[in-house]
Amino acid sequence: MTVVALVPAAGRGVRLGAGMPKALVQVAGRSLLVRAVGGLLDSGRVHHVVVAAPPDQVDVVERELGEFDAAAVHVVAGGADRTESVRLALAVTERAVPDADVVLVHDAARAFTPPAMIGAVVDAVLGGASAVIPVLPVADTIKQVDEAGAVTATVDRSPLRSVQTPQGFRPGVLRAAYDAAGDAATDDAGLVERAGGEVRTVPGHPNALKITTAFDLAVAESVLAVEPI
Ligand code: CTP
Ligand code: MG
Repeated sequence: MTVVALVPAAGRGVRLGAGMPKALVQVAGRSLLVRAVGGLLDSGRVHHVVVAAPPDQVDVVERELGEFDAAAVHVVAGGADRTESVRLALAVTERAVPDADVVLVHDAARAFTPPAMIGAVVDAVLGGASAVIPVLPVADTIKQVDEAGAVTATVDRSPLRSVQTPQGFRPGVLRAAYDAAGDAATDDAGLVERAGGEVRTVPGHPNALKITTAFDLAVAESVLAVEPI
């Protein structure tokens, strides 16, 4: 049984505004990327990690990941958007690990994802699901508004979920979804849905938040100060 994780890490981190790719930003002495890759390997369920790096910083990212087993962690040049970065990492994975049973796609920006949650996604795919996403209930009240900003409806939030990563797939299902994909998507499972596939859910975790802004980074630093995540 072989599990591969693709880690899109080629973004510029514009909203974080750290002046460097977000994946290389450090929290308490370790970069988001090292934490994300470390979490995947610490789950004990992931055999290979393929990281999509900013194309002009492949060597920097390779050095950054030097603490890990070089046979398990590979770096490829990413693309102009997340979908392209995943597509490029997937192509390398298919050549390097043609016998994979599960492919995960996991944002480097979700650096504090609990390893047990990663294991739950792998288990759900091995249990027969073709696509699996971790989700959380929506905490805020959700309104629908018109173009002028006036409220047109209050949406029933009970069936709504916010979506995290890692998302897990049978390799052929992810490949078919990317082959059918036209536009870029923010969510790999969304491509499976578009291609008519069924997507299952497992419980997400607050620590798997995506570090997007300086506020998110401050939240992660505060949590780290009281519990080792
Ligand atoms: N990503 C990627 N390739 C891109 C763009 C994004 O691999 N061309 C990755 C990011 O590195 C991140 C994940 O996709 O791990 C989610 O993207 P996001 O949070 O939007 O990160 P950035 O694109 O770096 O941030 P921003 O949009 O603020 O620039
Ligand atoms: Mg982005």
